[in-house]
Amino acid sequence: MRKSQISASMMCSNLVDLQATIDVFEKEKVEYLHIDVMDGEFVPNFGLGVDYIRGLRELTSIPLDLHLMIKDPEYKLPWIGIYKEDIVTIHYESTFQVQRALDYLMPYGCKRFLAINPATPIGQIEEVLDYIDGVNLMVNPGFAGQKIVPSTLRKAEKLQKFLQEMHREDIILEVDGNITKEHGATLRSFGASIFVAGTSSIFCTDVSHFGEKIREFRKAVE
Ligand code: DX5
Ligand code: ZN
Repeated sequence: MRKSQISASMMCSNLVDLQATIDVFEKEKVEYLHIDVMDGEFVPNFGLGVDYIRGLRELTSIPLDLHLMIKDPEYKLPWIGIYKEDIVTIHYESTFQVQRALDYLMPYGCKRFLAINPATPIGQIEEVLDYIDGVNLMVNPGFAGQKIVPSTLRKAEKLQKFLQEMHREDIILEVDGNITKEHGATLRSFGASIFVAGTSSIFCTDVSHFGEKIREFRKAVE
């Protein structure tokens, strides 16, 4: 089984402690910074934009896990500043041109992930398996602090079986939204290996305890 990795959800961090937060993440070797880019159209929320991403790149070289909760992402990729070490996730539901959007990501050399919302059936991704490196199973996107949709846990099990049937166990499973230690452990048993850590795990306390929370979470999902 692939080693577990933490993708710390930066929409949950506050700007006052940003440098201190990043110092802890670097010390604890957090593998990704999860960036929720939100346009107020695909999701009812505005989120971290291109200036935030540019500024973050000045502060750290931790790769970004760019979660594009934006409509028609295929036309907006050049705006973002994508590095080859990054993960870029587009939503199946955000464009009529899913395959084209994934194709447009290819030249960046980044990992290409497809996110599906709770109501989107697993089978919808079958025709684009050749164009993805990972799947992001979502709680309802757009906000921190939401409660997991219970069916998402069963959905991870279905996805694991589906990928085995399709002989694509190489596809990485990322889980995003209300990933508590308990939910993380359950999802780990269904093959998840990247865990978006937000208010449900790391950011439930202040920066002075982030290190301890990261180590506790890692233990829960190892
Ligand atoms: C989904 C966001 C949230 C957040 C995770 O749009 O990605 O899932 O970062 O944080 P919590 O743990 O509060 O759901
Ligand atoms: Zn996200």
